Amino acid sequence: MRIIVLGSGAGGGFPQWNCNCENCRLAWANDPRVRARTQSSVAISADGARWMLLNASPDLRQQIVATPALHPRGSQRHSPISGVFLTNGDVDHLTGLLTMREQQAFTIYGSRATLAQTSHGAFGVLNPNLVDRVEVELGARVNPGLGFTIETFAVPGKPPLYLEGAEIEQQIGAETDSTIGLEISCEGRRVHYIPGCAKVTAALAARVSGADALLFDGTTYTDDEMVRAGLSNKTAWRMGHVPMSGEGGSIAAFAKIPVGRKVFIHINNTNPVLREDSAERAEVARAGWDVGHDGMEIVL
Ligand code: MLT
Ligand code: MN
Ligand code: ZN
Repeated sequence: MRIIVLGSGAGGGFPQWNCNCENCRLAWANDPRVRARTQSSVAISADGARWMLLNASPDLRQQIVATPALHPRGSQRHSPISGVFLTNGDVDHLTGLLTMREQQAFTIYGSRATLAQTSHGAFGVLNPNLVDRVEVELGARVNPGLGFTIETFAVPGKPPLYLEGAEIEQQIGAETDSTIGLEISCEGRRVHYIPGCAKVTAALAARVSGADALLFDGTTYTDDEMVRAGLSNKTAWRMGHVPMSGEGGSIAAFAKIPVGRKVFIHINNTNPVLREDSAERAEVARAGWDVGHDGMEIVL
């Protein structure tokens, strides 16, 4: 199985169009201590010929251009991309679908809650005669006919920002079909893809135990990172993300869980691990985690 990290950034990417935070300032200046990152998406393939996207980011066109495996081949109209599996309805995971118009057949997989967001407005541009939508129940295992299977599971999450209502504080951390993780199985190999997760529960850690790779939510390093930087009044928890550090953080939660390779993805532009010479980057490496970057390829 081949896994290509198309975009390792969180919503907004790095640098973000309107941001001059400490990290973004370095990125705008092309400082060698940081690498630019596009928004959250991964591509997987069993045969190197047919690919499934895990989320479709607003940077999808740029990601396809940068990734030869995803270029059209042969006939006049072709794409190696057979489908897109969505893990939630966030803008950074959905809007790449709009890049995939132009009368191309493919399949969109997702939960009922997430697929509902792809069925109106501008998404109508995806011709229903060509683009199948497959609703996947929680806990179901899908065989897309590409040489691997994908099982869905709920993770503690949050409804998309644009659907937040008066009850949002009570909804954060709930395990519903609005935020899911994916377990990909291919020829005895097992990979977990979890780009958004508000909390690592014991059940989640147990599920991931023994996997060959874990691609996990690396949005922030500390819970109050954006608040302290004066950029937002939201903690990581309020955004539906678990921080890397601290008592309930992902590093501690997965510390004793055996996994072949632990990779942070969906990294927000404020996260200090993006500065390759930072103490936080060294700490993450010491804990056995890779910091994902665009173009990173994992072969299992
Ligand atoms: C998130 O992961 O928190 C979202 O990408 C936020 C957003 O939709 O901008
Ligand atoms: Mn996001
Ligand atoms: Zn920034």
